Amino acid sequence: MAIIKPEYILAVDQGTTASRAKIFNKNGRRVTETETDIPQIFPQSGWVEENPHDIWHSVQSVIASAMINSGVRPDEIQAIGIANQRETAIVWDRATGQPIYNAIVWQSTQSSDIIEALRTAGHEDMIQAKTGLPLSTVFSASKIRWILNHVEGAQARAEAGELLFGTVDTWLTWKLTGGAAFVTDYTNASRTMLFNINDLAWDDDLLALFNIPAVMLPEIKTSSEVYGTTEAYQFFGGQVPIAGLAGDQQAAMIGQMGFDEGFTKNTYGAGSFILMNTGDHPVKSTHKLIATVAYAMQGEIKYALEGSIFVAGSAIQWLHDGLHMISTEPETKVAATNSTNDDEVYFVPAFSGLSAPYWDADARGAVFGITRGTNRDDFIKATLQSIAYQTRDVIETMRADTGYDIAIMNADGSASRNAYLMQFQADILDAEIRRAADEETTALGAAFLAGLAVGYWDSIDQIREMTVDGRDFNPDMAPERRETLYHGWQQAVKATQVFKP
Ligand code: G3P
Repeated sequence: MAIIKPEYILAVDQGTTASRAKIFNKNGRRVTETETDIPQIFPQSGWVEENPHDIWHSVQSVIASAMINSGVRPDEIQAIGIANQRETAIVWDRATGQPIYNAIVWQSTQSSDIIEALRTAGHEDMIQAKTGLPLSTVFSASKIRWILNHVEGAQARAEAGELLFGTVDTWLTWKLTGGAAFVTDYTNASRTMLFNINDLAWDDDLLALFNIPAVMLPEIKTSSEVYGTTEAYQFFGGQVPIAGLAGDQQAAMIGQMGFDEGFTKNTYGAGSFILMNTGDHPVKSTHKLIATVAYAMQGEIKYALEGSIFVAGSAIQWLHDGLHMISTEPETKVAATNSTNDDEVYFVPAFSGLSAPYWDADARGAVFGITRGTNRDDFIKATLQSIAYQTRDVIETMRADTGYDIAIMNADGSASRNAYLMQFQADILDAEIRRAADEETTALGAAFLAGLAVGYWDSIDQIREMTVDGRDFNPDMAPERRETLYHGWQQAVKATQVFKP
């Protein structure tokens, strides 16, 4: 009797503060998962960096643990998919593989002078038209420019072809293949501010504007194809195809089966990223949302409209690390439910400015509406509510930009486990919230991309059949109360934009 060899897909989810590895079987079920944190480095106020070697070692470590824990062998893995924190920029030496500076993380504002100079010179509209992106330090281009400005001799070395730039997908693929593959995918390229989302190629005008030599840039591929195989030395002796790459927020949408135009999801992680599938064309936002590539696979390119919220779950983390108000995240649900105030406290968590749809880098956080009677529970409730209010800000904007009603919003990410938050979100949005059965859909999306590329799964239709229903939250708030509460939030946001210390 022939023995049927088990077959799996390995997915890596390399996020801003943690790396995860998950192994999936043919039914899209998770066989194992492992996670490890990555240290962040804060050299100056507003700067956020990571050591690229820490990122790489964390990925090696979670892959090793996943394989050891599950007993899955390298020859049983059909392909590897990678989802990654987006925009984070790494520049390294082509010959030695040594980074010439830390990874500058998407959250970092150290390139703000470069961005302001471009704004003053009147380039904002041109950049948005070509890239779909608002002029901001978040995206990679100004970070590369900063590195080339600040590391001695870097510009000349880049021009001589000695340096490479990559987002984290590129760095990891390059490392896993022992330097054989120097690639990125359309979703990650579309976050660099060097990629033209209409022509689907690196843009010569933008390269000239940022003075970045084209020779530094990786080749752009689809999100689902074989880019290379793991170097045996790096992967337990196995030579496994790397066959899926996508930015983590796009991967989460794929993991949520967001293949249809109009599908909208919010991933509630440290930040919160709301993406709507806009089909075959980018939607030019008139309200500072982002037009981006949703995925390129199976011969199709789909676009998304995105609203990025910088502070969501990280506000809850601040309650823990910064204020020592909670010991564990689930306490927030209990506290919010116990709070008896009338929701008059508003907390605007603008820790590093306000993100979409405001993009006000100078705004700072504030608490409004406190009285002598305000207590810990009220403060915690206001923190959870701030996540839902920010989401409504973005959804209102998406409604205006697209004309879609958005009666349903799909939810995933760790903070979506909080049932209080999900119910308040449904109430304040007046929309049904469909929470994914497994809240961590990012790795699943990366697995789908890799599995489709190697024929492990045949088609998007086959993937759709694996949908597992999660939990739905329906609005249950009187319309007047909803609008009164939201009006209070809008006033609070306005006040933070006026107060500039
Ligand atoms: O654009 C930044 C985003 O990709 C970060 O996601 O989950 O690592 O915080 P996350």
